[in-house]
Amino acid sequence: MPLGASPKDAENNPGRFEPFPLTKEVGRPKIGRLDLNDKTETLHTVFSPAAPIRSRDFFMGRFEQLRRVEQAVREPGQHIVLFGERGVGKTSFANIIETEFGGTKTAKLTCSRNLQFTEIWKELLRKAWKAFNLDAAALAKIPATLDPFTLVDALGAIEKPYLFIFDEFDSISNKAMLGLFADTVKSLSDNLPHLHCMFVGIGLSVKDLIGEHASLERCLRQVHLPRMSEEELSEIVDKGLMRLKMNMDKSVRADVIEFSQGFPHYTHLLSKYAVENALKLRYQYVARNNFDSAIDEAITNAHESIRAAYQSAVTSRGNSEFYQNVVWACALVKEDDHGSFKAAEVRPVLEKLSKKSQPVNSYGYHLSKLCLDSRGQMLAKVTFGKQIRYHFRNPILKAYITLELYRKGVLRDFR
Ligand SMILES: Nc1ncnc2c1ncn2[C@@H]1O[C@H](COP(=O)(O)OP(=O)(O)OP(=O)(O)O)[C@@H](O)[C@H]1O
Ligand SMILES: [Mg+2]
Repeated sequence: MPLGASPKDAENNPGRFEPFPLTKEVGRPKIGRLDLNDKTETLHTVFSPAAPIRSRDFFMGRFEQLRRVEQAVREPGQHIVLFGERGVGKTSFANIIETEFGGTKTAKLTCSRNLQFTEIWKELLRKAWKAFNLDAAALAKIPATLDPFTLVDALGAIEKPYLFIFDEFDSISNKAMLGLFADTVKSLSDNLPHLHCMFVGIGLSVKDLIGEHASLERCLRQVHLPRMSEEELSEIVDKGLMRLKMNMDKSVRADVIEFSQGFPHYTHLLSKYAVENALKLRYQYVARNNFDSAIDEAITNAHESIRAAYQSAVTSRGNSEFYQNVVWACALVKEDDHGSFKAAEVRPVLEKLSKKSQPVNSYGYHLSKLCLDSRGQMLAKVTFGKQIRYHFRNPILKAYITLELYRKGVLRDFR
């Protein structure tokens, strides 16, 4: 049945429409067919779980980080390292500043292991030449292979402030290549302080970039892009619903935000699926049953790598149930501000799940195992002084396990 058909349509047009599925819901206003088509179209623009944000209109929050980057760009000779966990919104952030930023033009490039120093810079030089309408003959004269010296010489043609953005810079691990970038940054700071670079990556630190070049530390500003706050995530839901002219049950909205655990991907995903489900039933009010369907869909459509990681963590030839409980307990335990927890903190959660007492030595071994490749490296160990703490290597997996726990009805006992 086409989206938007109703039982009435079916009566009037028996050949065109199949019967509309009836629900027990009452008191929720139904949507007309034209409005439904409109909303379905809008849905794909307001909630985009699979694509980074490209337009300022759909980019929420991040004011403090934008301010810090803007400040750095205004400072002669200053460069930026923007880092944050996987999926936290780095590319979207880079996209937003890709257009003119604080009066400075910008050019962005996504790095990859296969791209060489010359290829990267030639592409950026092409962009800069186009942006400033520079002399094409001068571009053609740039040497075929670039090193920091010839590059900075070529960049001298750009007289106005410009920001070069390198997304996924952490895909470059070759030490020699990192050395070339470090020399370039140093030379830009010294000779062309109106040109800036921003390096974007997961867990990227100034140290990764500068290696031996300690003198560079001064001209690199680190900006951390943290998980999004509840307010920022709420804004994604609210602005999306506003554009759709739809409403959402208050407790469902709270769950969308809580389940996202700071990751905008899940906010977009759960909002999209829940709205889609409400629209399928022709309601403009998103209720609990729509959210429940959204969870099912999110689990079914989760990235294969996430499901595989979950399966290798919980599957065991021996005591599978115990492993599963340990994995669940890790997802349920309250983390500190850095997303880590102690083995002892897992205990009360595990006891509640297994309904029996658990001395630390009964599951400490399992926590260590969950750090291994054979268990999908679900956890990583970090040491603070004498204390060992654990954290999810991929926090998106933790969010996925939370969805599983909700679907299985386990989460209810822990909220
Ligand atoms: N500020 C924002 N406002 C609204 N949605 C956002 C924002 N930042 C990111 N998103 C959404 O979150 C999801 C992940 O964003 P993005 O791809 O930018 O993250 P990332 O950190 O670059 O991920 P990765 O580490 O995989 O490269 C996308 O669906 C994107 O639309
Ligand atoms: Mg990205």
